[in-house]
Amino acid sequence: MPRIAYVNGRYVKHSDAMVHIEDRGYQFADGVYEVCEVRHGLIVDLTRHLDRLNRSLGELRIAWPMSRAALIQVIRETVRRNHVRNGLFYLQVTRGVARRDHVFPADGTPSSIVVTAKSTDQSAIVKKNANGIKAITVRDNRWDRVDIKSVGLLSNALARQQAKEAGAQEAIYIDHNGMVKEGAATNVWIVDPDGNLVTRPAEHGILRGITRTTLMDVAAILELPIVERFFSVEEMMAAREVFITAATSICFPVVAIDGETIANGHPGSVSQKIREAFFDVAEKTAI
Ligand code: PDD
Repeated sequence: MPRIAYVNGRYVKHSDAMVHIEDRGYQFADGVYEVCEVRHGLIVDLTRHLDRLNRSLGELRIAWPMSRAALIQVIRETVRRNHVRNGLFYLQVTRGVARRDHVFPADGTPSSIVVTAKSTDQSAIVKKNANGIKAITVRDNRWDRVDIKSVGLLSNALARQQAKEAGAQEAIYIDHNGMVKEGAATNVWIVDPDGNLVTRPAEHGILRGITRTTLMDVAAILELPIVERFFSVEEMMAAREVFITAATSICFPVVAIDGETIANGHPGSVSQKIREAFFDVAEKTAI
């Protein structure tokens, strides 16, 4: 069964899906994206993902490629056409196609839109959750607007590659004061000695993850205390638990960082509880 992509108004075979060589996403990383989970045939947290898309587009003054209602129909159709029951959709909006020039193209230049969907390997996710993952720490060398979910992910890609070459699965960005920021494609959490769930305030140089926001709803129901504050690498290394969150994987326990074992080297119970409760609490939209 061929994969189908939605590209600027048409559903096309993945192998035939193309954008123009002068698309500003290609030349300037002048675009934004969202990744959203599909689970048991339902789209997870769609409203929050589209709200964040709206914010990202607004911050960069990129026009919506179509109405929100029309985009929801395109997303559902793309998920349906790819027969995704457990997986994700990816959507990307760029400032469109124009002769290469750093300044914005003429008013009225249409934004480009691509939507893809794919199934993910559920057994790999179960395994990563059961065993936990390894991470490394890296200095944050990104621009300071990482609150915008831009497609400019070169630093993140290099950091993930560095993690892979070190036998790890995630790279954790550290700021110039030795404080933890977030992962290359995840938010980072610790459980402190008092049992608080601690994560960096989203106003300070990280992406406000949708999973992070919904996890706060989950924690409230489970009566787990949440504290948004800065925490250092040393505090993370000594934490009761460390875990990372992102759409499509909810949370993964981190059992080793920079080659050092976290707690007893096994996944902790808090991240497991959150994982079990997450889907029930999250918003679910029918395909
Ligand atoms: N990444 N921080 C960064 C830098 C991210 O790229 C992501 C998501 C997150 C978590 O956000 P959310 O919970 O909304 O997925 C935090 C996506 C999954 C990606 O780039 O593939």
